[in-house]
Amino acid sequence: MLSEVRFEGVHKIFGTETAVEDLNLTVNAGEFLVLVGPSGCGKTTTLRMLAGLERPSYGRILIGDRLVNNVSPRFRDVAMVFQSYALYPHMNVYDNLAFGMRARGAAGGLIAQQVKETAAVLGLGHLMKRRPSELSGGQRQRVALGRALIRQPQVFLMDEPLSNLDAGLRVQMRAELSRLHERFRVTTLYVTHDQVEAMTMGDRIAVMNSGRLQQVDAPETLYDNPANTFVAGFIGSPRMNFVPGRLTTAQGATAVEFLGVKAPLSSRAKLTADAAEGEVMVGLRPEDLMWRRAAAPESTLTISAEVDVVEPMGHEAYVTAVCAGETVTSRFPPRSGVRTRERIELALNPARLHLFDAHSGTTILQRPAAGGAELPRSVGEARIDEPAEGRSERHRQPQSRGMQSRTEEIS
Ligand SMILES: Nc1ncnc2c1ncn2[C@@H]1O[C@H](COP(=O)(O)OP(=O)(O)O)[C@@H](O)[C@H]1O
Ligand SMILES: [Mg+2]
Repeated sequence: MLSEVRFEGVHKIFGTETAVEDLNLTVNAGEFLVLVGPSGCGKTTTLRMLAGLERPSYGRILIGDRLVNNVSPRFRDVAMVFQSYALYPHMNVYDNLAFGMRARGAAGGLIAQQVKETAAVLGLGHLMKRRPSELSGGQRQRVALGRALIRQPQVFLMDEPLSNLDAGLRVQMRAELSRLHERFRVTTLYVTHDQVEAMTMGDRIAVMNSGRLQQVDAPETLYDNPANTFVAGFIGSPRMNFVPGRLTTAQGATAVEFLGVKAPLSSRAKLTADAAEGEVMVGLRPEDLMWRRAAAPESTLTISAEVDVVEPMGHEAYVTAVCAGETVTSRFPPRSGVRTRERIELALNPARLHLFDAHSGTTILQRPAAGGAELPRSVGEARIDEPAEGRSERHRQPQSRGMQSRTEEIS
């Protein structure tokens, strides 16, 4: 059965510190939702409240239609995978996988069959006799996943499960987790501080900062239409550039002045009701600030700058340059040959500008989505729309798996 998960007005206060503040968030049934944010923003606390390891100070948590605030962890039917994989060191892989089912008194034949199936899904078939100390980090993490998977929970909770792995393995496991989710479609709340993990794995991403949910959206929407400067700066690497600007209106035409240029606002872009003439914060993604010589025709604005640092990445280079007293980073083609202190011209597509309120940091620009449709607004909403049609490949119905029983203590 697929269950949605709902946080309604959830707060968690530790002493004088509010770890989670008024969280309203729905994880749709069968969805893989990534909760991302910097260290200390309240991600683990959120997961622990859903698992039942921490009690909310206020608010309601629902799994399906069931209010679980007072339900003990073992009866919530959730499985949690942690950063440090909890395996029994003295047991081999088979016994680690079988442990939960044995503890619940499942029949021997059923255990053997499900351990075999789970091991096959995770590519552990040939390692059944090994102990955790005889496995690589990736293999151990796979066993930990297997222990969660074999329980057939209604909800998976994962707390930075890949952060102990080296970079190559992390990329591989990312893909593997996505594949597993494709196959079983268990509602998953996945926590990470890594925005790349969030972007690559999430059906949707919930961005959190200082205990507060900032925005919940599909990865592309989040990237193209960040709700505020925090989200804009957190998602994307290199980081979005922020420079001060001025919003002006003359004869009904709105423009933004920044870095010594004046950019007309695209007729398709709409300013929010809060937008007012005067000071604004302008956001420019490094890939939207190109070398004039490599720029596309839509990049109609030209900014003159002096190169400060060139960082070659191989397939591209990050060039940090100073313009009108502001330092900005742009993405250059490889082997451009530009050097520190050289004067260069940067080109900018005015349709790619981001505008934020100079004081609150909230976006004041509503750009149309890629297909031209209006954007779904989901900031601060309790309910979020079903994921967009375009991602339907990732939303097939789950296959029936024919396994039962599900009341093990969270491990
Ligand atoms: N048991 C606790 N007692 C007191 N403060 C806590 C406790 N657990 C977490 N916190 C505080 O709550 C905030 C959020 O922590 P956490 O949820 O672990 O963040 P994250 O997982 O995003 O790094 C932090 O400031 C942390 O110090
Ligand atoms: Mg944490």
